[in-house]
Amino acid sequence: MNRMTRKGWVWEALATLCVVAALCRVSTVQAAQHWLLHKTRLHPDDLEIGGDLAGVERGETRFVSYNDLLTLPQEAYTVSTDSNFVGTVKISGVALEKLPAMLGAASGAAMVIAICDDSYNAHYPAEYFSAHHPVLVLKVNGLPPAQWPKGSDGSAMGPYMISHPSFTSAFHVLAHADEPQVPWSVLRLDFRNELEVYAPIVPRSRAHDAAVHDGYAIARQNCFRCHASEGEGGTKSPVQWDDLAGKAINAPGYFDAYVTAPKKINSHTQMAASPQYDAGTLAALRAYFATFKETRP
Ligand code: HEC
Repeated sequence: MNRMTRKGWVWEALATLCVVAALCRVSTVQAAQHWLLHKTRLHPDDLEIGGDLAGVERGETRFVSYNDLLTLPQEAYTVSTDSNFVGTVKISGVALEKLPAMLGAASGAAMVIAICDDSYNAHYPAEYFSAHHPVLVLKVNGLPPAQWPKGSDGSAMGPYMISHPSFTSAFHVLAHADEPQVPWSVLRLDFRNELEVYAPIVPRSRAHDAAVHDGYAIARQNCFRCHASEGEGGTKSPVQWDDLAGKAINAPGYFDAYVTAPKKINSHTQMAASPQYDAGTLAALRAYFATFKETRP
């Protein structure tokens, strides 16, 4: 009887061990998402990862190596319509929309922001992922970044760039067509909650006014890449959202001229021109920006 009890106790202990082992396995599976991330940069080609990462203090970043990115599931395709390349090229790399989960983004942080060496930010919200399936490029014609073709200004397009298997505009707002977001010289990816990122640029009033609504959709895809608002958006330009609002209200002619042909005003401009924007599109942009100088509801 005594023996039996002891045996029973052993079985029970073994069962408990199994449960503990199973629980540990669950937590190693969760922790495994982080195994690719290093606290410090180990190589100049490491990709910096920031934003909301599970178990990582906000503001801290991590690094993933080029070689480790090559161990993740790769997409491969041939493309002839990517404006960054001349002719047809073979691309391989990782689906951008899969990276947040594979690299341990916090829950809800599914938006990716690609940050370039000049503080240009390309934003990839859920809508963009489902329409275009962008890829973080790791190889071009089978070659690593050092051997990639040069960019339009003759500089290197590495260490990272973003491309698509194909691109068809998913929306048109006035004279703005959904544009491919294909940055190069990408140094860092941030995983973020989309609503939080856009919160500082949601119209401050008249959100249901058609012009304001349209202006917001355009500014969110275009201007937000280089102009920031309350810590969100690109900082390629030192000119912030509030300043653009001031220009839209007090100098509408200057605002319109700058948006359509910045080079005519500033020969050294770093701004992308939008010559296709007609009077209605420019008026919508101004109506939207103006809400940032009006009293909050
Ligand atoms: C590729 C980056 C980029 C994008 C996209 C961009 N800008 Fe700019 N913008 C700049 C930079 C950089 C400057 C600062 C001066 C310069 O380089 O022209 C600037 C300056 C301006 C100015 C002049 C401000 C002043 O104080 O004189 C206006 C107005 C402006 N931008 C409006 C816009 C609007 C509106 C959009 C969206 C439709 C937009 N920009 C999109 C980079 C950009």
